[in-house]
Amino acid sequence: MRYTIPMMNCAIAVSFIVICVHLRESNEVEELRRLPPLGRSMRQEFFMKDDYIFLNHGSYGTYPRDVQKGLREYQERAERDPDLWFRKDLKPEHTKVREMLAEVINADAEDLVLVPNTTGGMNAIFRSLVFAAGERILHFNTVYGSMGSIIQYLVDYSNGAISKLVFNVTYPISNDVFLQQFETFLNETEDPEQPIRIALIDHITSVPGVVIPIERIIPLLKLRNITVVIDGAHAIGQVPIDVKALDPDYYITNCHKWLYAARGSAVLYVAKKHQPFVHPGFINAGYSQPAKLQDEFYWTGTMDFSPYMSIPAALQFRRDAGGEEMIMQYNHNLAYFGGKVLASAFKTEVLQYKNQIGSMVDVRLPVDNPDNPKLTNGWWVNEQLTKHPETFSPAYKHNGRWWVRVSAQIYNDLSDFEVCAKHFLAICNELNGSQNTTTDNDDNPNTESNVNSFAHVTLFKDN
Ligand SMILES: Cc1ncc(COP(=O)(O)O)c(C=O)c1O
Repeated sequence: MRYTIPMMNCAIAVSFIVICVHLRESNEVEELRRLPPLGRSMRQEFFMKDDYIFLNHGSYGTYPRDVQKGLREYQERAERDPDLWFRKDLKPEHTKVREMLAEVINADAEDLVLVPNTTGGMNAIFRSLVFAAGERILHFNTVYGSMGSIIQYLVDYSNGAISKLVFNVTYPISNDVFLQQFETFLNETEDPEQPIRIALIDHITSVPGVVIPIERIIPLLKLRNITVVIDGAHAIGQVPIDVKALDPDYYITNCHKWLYAARGSAVLYVAKKHQPFVHPGFINAGYSQPAKLQDEFYWTGTMDFSPYMSIPAALQFRRDAGGEEMIMQYNHNLAYFGGKVLASAFKTEVLQYKNQIGSMVDVRLPVDNPDNPKLTNGWWVNEQLTKHPETFSPAYKHNGRWWVRVSAQIYNDLSDFEVCAKHFLAICNELNGSQNTTTDNDDNPNTESNVNSFAHVTLFKDN
């Protein structure tokens, strides 16, 4: 087998640039700071070191220089006069941030609270619940590790009273087939003796990085009287969110990932009917029975609140950069085409259907023996951080094969995906014990025709 990297196809690059220019022109720009166009030149607005290609925004996020400025302003303000800050100024600033986020996700500000991260918010939701004997908690096999642990903890400490139910999804799969399978699963597992009390559903799963059609899943669950918690850790800034239209019971999303706020900032929505029963993970002086959402979640102990206060700067940067729609479309298109670049270099396939791609794409790695015992998630981390440190993307096993999740962001362009392709080809070639070289010649006629064909697709519609 011979692995090659195709030349970046001009047609892809040109269509991509045309789309970006179109998006920028169609945006009304008023009183905005002039930023470089999206792509490589946007790197100067961020902190990444020059010799590093950052293609893993999905894991921890990173913020632009403007956001650091905003963050530090609030930190300095707090230190200049701590009493003034904590006793008087913090609360109105905190309220302002909730109001801004309410606009972004179309929710009422009084139904939103700020929490440091999704893990904290999810603990608050699940550990506030009082379960009846026999009740079950539903989640997918693709649940994020810490969220799965919260559910396992509840089951373990329930003295056998409650249990969990796992829906297994195997990718690649279209949304229609996935939804049919899920509905069948709900029907087949229905048991009045063991009702499903609550379901934890990701808006965008972590690995693989798939956008889940929650607007179609939520009604299926509500119809069966199942409380719906949406883990939107990856969602804000990556896909539009309309809480009022979705109408979940709980929704939580990290502002420190795709929104560009500082780490330690997330927003939790709690539907009004649940608010009297939800307490934060850290019980504090605001505790009352029934609970008052805003009183309890506002002060969860002394801490640095400035990550929350970095959210306005992040939102301003996004307006300056071209706005929500333009950022999301750029990242989506880059992930889509970047996935094609990787799949054609690896001679493998992309995991997602186009309507399952937000700003992340998952591609199968060219591993000859996926069951090689030395292969673990940690092995891939170590291999990249030590021997191949030019870039990094998380690799993981799904459905018996190894995949990599790559994030697209406004400071990336398609050439970064070519670096990623070379990086993984080098690792896989070493792993496979092959002498295959990477070349700029694409000698695969099928790949060539694929590349040409997607230069002509309608870019803003799902195929
Ligand atoms: C789907 C999902 N849920 C939850 C989390 C946890 O987020 P945090 O570490 O901010 O609590 C992550 C983190 O990547 C995630 O991908």
